[in-house]
Amino acid sequence: MPINRQLRLQARPKGLLAPGDLQLTESPVPELQDGQALAKVKYLSMDPTMRVWMAVDSYLPAVGIGDVMRAAGLAEVIESRHAQFKKGDKLVGLTGLQEYVVIEAQSKFSFQKVPSIPFLSDTAFLGVLGMTGLTAYFGMTEIAKPQKGETLVVSSAAGATGSVAGQIGKIHGCRVVGIAGTDDKCAWLTDELGFDAAINYKHADWKEKLAAATPDGIDIDYENVGGEIMEEVLKHMNLHGRVVLCGLISGYTKETAGPANLGILIVKRLKVEGFLVLDYASRFTDAAMELGKWKMLGKLKDRQTIVEGLEKASEAINMLFTGGNTGKLIVKV
Ligand SMILES: NC(=O)c1ccc[n+]([C@@H]2O[C@H](COP(=O)([O-])OP(=O)(O)OC[C@H]3O[C@@H](n4cnc5c(N)ncnc54)[C@H](OP(=O)(O)O)[C@@H]3O)[C@@H](O)[C@H]2O)c1
Repeated sequence: MPINRQLRLQARPKGLLAPGDLQLTESPVPELQDGQALAKVKYLSMDPTMRVWMAVDSYLPAVGIGDVMRAAGLAEVIESRHAQFKKGDKLVGLTGLQEYVVIEAQSKFSFQKVPSIPFLSDTAFLGVLGMTGLTAYFGMTEIAKPQKGETLVVSSAAGATGSVAGQIGKIHGCRVVGIAGTDDKCAWLTDELGFDAAINYKHADWKEKLAAATPDGIDIDYENVGGEIMEEVLKHMNLHGRVVLCGLISGYTKETAGPANLGILIVKRLKVEGFLVLDYASRFTDAAMELGKWKMLGKLKDRQTIVEGLEKASEAINMLFTGGNTGKLIVKV
């Protein structure tokens, strides 16, 4: 049997991941039992929530010390005694940070087959048609419910989720303003994705630029970051605006995320709704079809940042917190 290289959680990180928080181990792939399938992991999705899973119990329990680090990935079945999956099937699901995954008999719901669609790369099913695209889809269509002419502001707008959320806003006729951490990311948003404006929050005058880019106030905040960025966006919200609380990445590597001005929620009668994409699991297929249609029509563009090598996963996770990715961040195993 082949040797499985795996990344195991050795220590709960403080701040960014330090060398040794994830440790590379090797063990033989176990003999397949009836009902199981063996799949080779091809690509791993790098998600900010992994940093949360390393530290605390949240919507899933924290990963145990010594356990293979939890991660979503795309894997190809190489041997099967499983009723639903055959050799050659490509699957997405919680593969873990490892080279081979044994799929258990009862896991037919946690792994989904990836259809083979011309002009679409398999990795699209980890990004624009996968969990981050679906997050943007449900956050926008179910919570934001954008109306033509409204102003939408998206934080971490050049990331996997934000870039799709902003484009869905454009599809619905909104004025869309993105906030991102480099001039190149901002140029991608305005020049290629059709955002009306993009603001680099690392420039000293970004708050003035945000005010200038939202002359009619903000109706929808698609919030991925929290902290100072959310605090500033809240100041410009219109009465009865909606805040889609998707993520608070600025707080995942430190104690608090803010914002400090929650009184604005009352004064402006804002509706704030947190959500998890998993809440909409029963509708993933239909939503992915709609995202796929937009992509085929050129209304939805995506980009991926690919890091090569399982052993680079630790550095890749840190890129999510230092802004090293544009679009979906993926590790090619
Ligand atoms: N609710 C759900 O079901 C759900 C599902 C998926 C993702 N999410 C959330 O959605 C958000 C985006 O996730 P993603 O997977 O699409 O990641 P992503 O946006 O592709 O990557 C993370 C980006 O966040 C930005 N960032 C990191 N720290 C920041 C800080 N302190 N201040 C401002 N920007 C910062 C960086 O871009 P810059 O260069 O612009 O700083 C970085 O590239 C996260 O909060 C995540 O937890 C929620």
